Amino acid sequence: MGPRRSAASSRGRLLLPLLLLGVSGFFQSYAVEVDIKDASNATCLYANWMMRFLITYESNNGDYKTTTLNLSSSATHNGSVCGNDTQAALVAVQFGEGHSWSINITKNNETYQGDFMTLTYNTNDTAVFPDAKRKGPVTIFIKDPAGPVQLNTVFVCHNSFDIEAENITQIFWNVTLQAFVQNGTVSKKETRCPADRPTSAPTVPPTSANATTAPTTAAPPAPTPPKPVENPDTGNYSLKSGNKTCFLATVGLQLNVSQDKPLLININPKTTVADGACGNTTATLKLNDGNSTLIGFTFAVKNASASVQKFYLREVNVTLLNRLNGSVISSADNNNLSKWDAFLGSSYMCRKEQTLQINENVQVHTFNLWIQPFLVEANKFATAEECLADSDLNFLIPIAVGVALGFLIILVFISYIIGRRKSRTGYQSV
Ligand SMILES: *[C@@H]1O[C@H](CO)[C@@H](O)[C@H](O)[C@H]1NC(C)=O
Ligand SMILES: *[C@@H]1O[C@H](CO)[C@@H](O)[C@H](O)[C@H]1NC(C)=O
Ligand SMILES: *[C@@H]1O[C@H](CO)[C@@H](O)[C@H](O)[C@H]1NC(C)=O
Ligand SMILES: *[C@@H]1O[C@H](CO)[C@@H](O)[C@H](O)[C@H]1NC(C)=O
Ligand SMILES: *[C@@H]1O[C@H](CO)[C@@H](O)[C@H](O)[C@H]1NC(C)=O
Ligand SMILES: *[C@@H]1O[C@H](CO)[C@@H](O)[C@H](O)[C@H]1NC(C)=O
Ligand SMILES: *[C@@H]1O[C@H](CO)[C@@H](O)[C@H](O)[C@H]1NC(C)=O
Ligand SMILES: *[C@@H]1O[C@H](CO)[C@@H](O)[C@H](O)[C@H]1NC(C)=O
Ligand SMILES: *[C@@H]1O[C@H](CO)[C@@H](O)[C@H](O)[C@H]1NC(C)=O
Ligand SMILES: *[C@@H]1O[C@H](CO)[C@@H](O)[C@H](O)[C@H]1NC(C)=O
Ligand SMILES: *[C@@H]1O[C@H](CO)[C@@H](O)[C@H](O)[C@H]1NC(C)=O
Repeated sequence: MGPRRSAASSRGRLLLPLLLLGVSGFFQSYAVEVDIKDASNATCLYANWMMRFLITYESNNGDYKTTTLNLSSSATHNGSVCGNDTQAALVAVQFGEGHSWSINITKNNETYQGDFMTLTYNTNDTAVFPDAKRKGPVTIFIKDPAGPVQLNTVFVCHNSFDIEAENITQIFWNVTLQAFVQNGTVSKKETRCPADRPTSAPTVPPTSANATTAPTTAAPPAPTPPKPVENPDTGNYSLKSGNKTCFLATVGLQLNVSQDKPLLININPKTTVADGACGNTTATLKLNDGNSTLIGFTFAVKNASASVQKFYLREVNVTLLNRLNGSVISSADNNNLSKWDAFLGSSYMCRKEQTLQINENVQVHTFNLWIQPFLVEANKFATAEECLADSDLNFLIPIAVGVALGFLIILVFISYIIGRRKSRTGYQSV
C-alpha cells in the first residue's frame, strides 16, 4: 500500500499560498503506511506513522541553517522486508528528491526492537536545502533508543517523540508498528510509548513514622535515559575446506562508527553468515550481517625462518552497506595490524574486550574472542594462547617494572660509590 494523506496534509493544502511565499513545508505532513505480506499473502510487517526531520546543514556562506524535511505524498517503501529469526526486519521509505529512511528491527525470544535507523538526505534538493555548501546525499546512522516491544503486540505512540543525533532531530508521531506479525493479523494488544503513558504524579509513600512531612511537590518527569548499549552476543563462525573445518572463530563483535557522534552497532550472530578462505599462509574470515555490515579479518603466518612459526591478525576491513541497494555507505581498512599472535597450530583467546582501530572513524570491539585461522584439526580448537589482558599476570607487570627500577637505582648507587672510591684513590695517587 502506498502512503496516504492524513488529516494534517489537508491542512497543508490550505496553507499552500503561505508555502509559496517561502514558508517551508512545515505543515505538509503525510502518513506512511507499509503493509508487507509474506509468501502466503499474510501481513507479516505493518507500520503506519508520521515523521519529519530537522536537519542542520552548512550553507554557502558558512552559516549553519536548520531546515525541515518532510515526507512527501509520493513516498515509496521499496526494500522493506518481514524478517525472521535469522534476518532483521526492515522498514524502508524513499521520498522526495532522493531522500530515504529505514529502520532495522531485530527479533529476540519474546520481543522485537529497533536497532538503528539510516537517514539519507540529499542536499541537491534545493527546495529543502536551498543553499547547501556540500551537494549530494548524506547518510547518517542513528541508534534507536527505544526499548524492546513484546512480540505479538503492536507498538503505538500517538504523541510525538524526538530522537536526536547531532545536527538531526527526528520527530515521530501517530506511530503504529508491528514487526514479526503472526497469523497475518496485527495484534489488538498495544505496547504504548512513554510519551502516551498518563503522567500520573508519583505518589510519595509516607516515610517511616514521620507523619508530619510537608507535602512534597511531584518531581518533574525524568528524561528517558539513553539506552546503554549491551555487549554483543557471542557468535560461532567457521569455514570449511571441502568438508573439513579449517577456520574456527567464537567472538562477539561491536562496531564503533564515528560520524557526528559515535554509533555502536552490535553484530547479531543470528543474522550473520560467515564466508572466506583458508590457506597455508593467509586466511580470511568474512562476516556479513544482513547485507548491511561486512567485516573481514585476514590472518597471516609470520615470515620467520625460525623453527616455530606464529600467526597474527594482519588486516581488518569494515564496510557498511545500504541494505536497500547494496551501495557502500562507508568502508574502512587497516592492513597494517599486528595483533592476536599465537604459535601456528594453537588458537588465540581473549575474553576481555579488545579494540581494533581500523581508521580514525571506525573501531571494532571484540568480546569472548577465541579464534584459530590455521591448522584446525577435528573441528576443534587447539590449545589456546591467552591474551595478556585475560591473565592474572597483568597486574604483575607494574610490580616487575617496579622491582627492575629498584634494582637499577641500587645499581646506579653502587656504581656511584665505587666510582667515588676509585676517583678518591685516584686523587690520592696523584
Ligand atoms: C494476494 O492478495 C492479492 C489481493 O488481495 C491478490 O491480488 C494476489 O493474487 C494474492 N497473491 C497470492 C500469492 O495469493
Ligand atoms: C528468513 O528469511 C530469509 C529471506 O527471506 C530466508 O532466506 C530464510 O530461509 C528465512 N529463515 C527462516 C529460519 O525462516
Ligand atoms: C493521527 O491519526 C489520526 C487518525 O489516524 C488523525 O485523526 C490525527 O489527526 C493524527 N494526528 C496528527 C497529529 O496528525
Ligand atoms: C497463530 O495461530 C496458531 C495456530 O492457529 C496459534 O497457536 C497461535 O496462538 C496464533 N498466534 C497468535 C499471535 O495469534
Ligand atoms: C559456540 O561454541 C562454544 C564452544 O565451542 C559452545 O560452548 C557454544 O555453545 C556455541 N554456541 C552456539 C550458539 O552455538
Ligand atoms: C568510539 O570511537 C570514538 C572515536 O574513535 C571514541 O571517542 C569513543 O570513545 C569510542 N566509544 C566507545 C564506546 O568505544
Ligand atoms: C553539525 O553542526 C556543527 C555546527 O552547529 C558543525 O560544526 C558540524 O560540522 C556539523 N556536523 C555535521 C556532520 O554536519
Ligand atoms: C543478501 O543479498 C543476497 C544477494 O543479493 C541475497 O540472496 C540474500 O538473501 C541477502 N541476505 C539478506 C540477509 O538480506
Ligand atoms: C620473507 O622472507 C623472504 C625469504 O626469507 C624474504 O625474501 C622476504 O623479503 C620476507 N618478507 C617479509 C615481508 O619480510
Ligand atoms: C576486505 O578484505 C577482503 C579480504 O582481503 C577482500 O576480499 C575484500 O574485498 C575487502 N573489502 C573491502 C571493502 O576492502
Ligand atoms: C542507493 O541508495 C542511496 C540512497 O537512497 C543512493 O544515494 C545511491 O545512489 C543508491 N545507489 C545505487 C547504486 O543505486
